[in-house]
Amino acid sequence: MSLNAKKIFVTRNLPEAGLIPLYKHFGKENVKIYAEDMPIPREELLKEVKGVDALLCLLTDKIDSEVMDTAGPQLKIIANYAVGFDNIDVAAATKRKIVVTNTPGVLTETTADLAWALLMATARRLGEGERLLRASQWSGWNPTLFLGMDVHGKTLGIFGMGRIGQAVARRAKGFDMRILYYDVHESTLPKEIEAIKVDRDTLLKESDFISIHCPLTRDTYHAFGMEEFKKMKKTACIINTSRGPVIDEEALAKALKEGIIFAAGLDVFEKEPEVHPDLLDCPNAVLIPHLGSASVETRSRMAEIAANNIIARLSGETPPNTVNPEAL
Ligand code: DGY
Repeated sequence: MSLNAKKIFVTRNLPEAGLIPLYKHFGKENVKIYAEDMPIPREELLKEVKGVDALLCLLTDKIDSEVMDTAGPQLKIIANYAVGFDNIDVAAATKRKIVVTNTPGVLTETTADLAWALLMATARRLGEGERLLRASQWSGWNPTLFLGMDVHGKTLGIFGMGRIGQAVARRAKGFDMRILYYDVHESTLPKEIEAIKVDRDTLLKESDFISIHCPLTRDTYHAFGMEEFKKMKKTACIINTSRGPVIDEEALAKALKEGIIFAAGLDVFEKEPEVHPDLLDCPNAVLIPHLGSASVETRSRMAEIAANNIIARLSGETPPNTVNPEAL
């Protein structure tokens, strides 16, 4: 091993599409992987980052100044295996001239597919139906069994009209829906997306379905609480495939139990992998374990992108998916 060989630490076993380029560029002996099938414990992370030049981490890893300082001044890049990067203290990284990268683009369509799967499952009560059937409690066709909400022809409200929000909106065309959206950013939508920009209250009051696609920031933390649920239609469904803390889970469980809104479809949770116990008690909540980008193709492409970001940075180039260019 040469003295100035670059060292990479990967916090979880990833698809080969990401590992092979790393092995090729840096030598297999310089790429260390935490191979357990669980998030790396904090002490282990702090032990393993010491002396590494690049850290490839997951959204389950909290990467703060302690991790960066423990790694040492040679740490050049933190490549997140996710589009969201709220698990990383980006300001602390920038201060230390560490580049942070993410994996945007590749998971847009996959996550939009999942948001729609959740929307449909929630509106048409698929979870309840499946649980009844598997419990051998189905007594046959029944005119009033699990009546849900129609999706076609309704109003879809998108909270955060970025890449994924737009991909969700595009799919709504096939369901003949009216599309409203709320976004703090000014942006021009592609022509094929016929959506009306509205204020938050209008989105809450007029949408039959609200699908959340904003990043988690100080401003979006608990953006949906009891006050918001009370403004929504009693027949409305809320879908979240962004980040759990955008919704106040306790308030949501109350809103679901009291019939303030009709149903919720959640892929993400406030304290993953914990789920608020009151939500587990709500039959009108469809709950799935953070599967937004979980397709074979997308997870491989995410790994490849994260690896390419590391290769670029350690070769002295600007990584294509830098989120803090000020660090360069
Ligand atoms: C992301 O990339 O931020 C997703 O949440 C992973 O599924």
